[in-house]
Amino acid sequence: MRRCVCPGSYDPVTNGHLDVVRRATELFDEVVVAVLTNPAKPGTFTTAERIELLEASLADLPRARIAEVSGALLVDFCRAVEATAVVKGLRSGTDFAYELPMALMNRHLTGLETVFLPGDPRLEHVSSSLVKEVAALGGDIGGLVPDLVRDRLLALRDG
Ligand code: PNS
Repeated sequence: MRRCVCPGSYDPVTNGHLDVVRRATELFDEVVVAVLTNPAKPGTFTTAERIELLEASLADLPRARIAEVSGALLVDFCRAVEATAVVKGLRSGTDFAYELPMALMNRHLTGLETVFLPGDPRLEHVSSSLVKEVAALGGDIGGLVPDLVRDRLLALRDG
């Protein structure tokens, strides 16, 4: 059984995240989508809401499952679930500059490898933070996030 972990804040999940998770299920037998929460950064959606939105969005991917990780190193979580690699999407060189030190640190800590997948160029501009900003100011985020996520963001905007 080859298992990988796709870690992130997922606040909220975007179509860019889903593209990476789907492609990871084609490379590994099981993909654990790990929702990492930082108590110092509450974010927009609660952890329970992020997981609910992921569950609905990943319903058609039986090889993907969701887990919450809080107050733990990613490497320790990966060891606990017997994952051999982390899979991350890279949209740009900026992403690479952000991800490389984490990948090297994780490899330093336990030897955990990171696999980088090139992001779909059609989704290069999609991030949770930009999608939230555009939605809050009335822009169209159709096609950038699952419909359920769009509806939740519109509900936040409309109060
Ligand atoms: O979606 P994000 O916010 O870019 O994800 C970053 C995340 C959560 C994957 C990263 O901060 C992380 O791995 N945090 C877990 C704590 C940890 O292991 N820190 C050391 C990593 S080198």
